[in-house]
Amino acid sequence: MTTRQSGSQPVRIEQDVVLARQLARKVASDCGMRLVDLTKLVTAVSELARNTVVYGGGGDMDWEVIEEAGRVGLRLVFRDEGPGIADVKLALTDGWTSGGGLGLGLTGARRLVDEFELDTAPGQGTRVTITRWT
Ligand SMILES: Nc1ncnc2c1ncn2[C@@H]1O[C@H](COP(=O)(O)OP(=O)(O)OP(=O)(O)O)[C@@H](O)[C@H]1O
Ligand SMILES: [Mg+2]
Repeated sequence: MTTRQSGSQPVRIEQDVVLARQLARKVASDCGMRLVDLTKLVTAVSELARNTVVYGGGGDMDWEVIEEAGRVGLRLVFRDEGPGIADVKLALTDGWTSGGGLGLGLTGARRLVDEFELDTAPGQGTRVTITRWT
């Protein structure tokens, strides 16, 4: 796997969610992602970036245009140093929320991308890595 381009976007406040969306849209579009795939990716970005702000107490979105076996994709990492998630299985259950949400953010995001990875533990923060291939 090779990295063609990379960068990072702070995700600290609600307005950063908009910036993260715009950045993901631009990078995905520049690497030739089709509109339908791009829209799915941006929807996932909204959900994950919002979780970073609301539950993670703010963090960053690292982005990377990657190339592997002749295909190009966009890989995004949402990371924070917040409280982490005690029960990952529960958090990945449709409709489960610890707050007043719908509990559809993580599960929805997972369905919208090609690869989804959640690394978290209580007191260890949260890291969600998603990849969408073009
Ligand atoms: N970055 C994070 N740090 C800590 N806990 C998190 C983080 N992201 C998600 N969670 C936990 O996982 C739960 C499920 O997240 P999910 O996004 O699926 O639903 P939600 O945010 O509660 O509701 P919504 O459907 O509005 O997104 C959250 O309620 C929260 O407890
Ligand atoms: Mg959410």
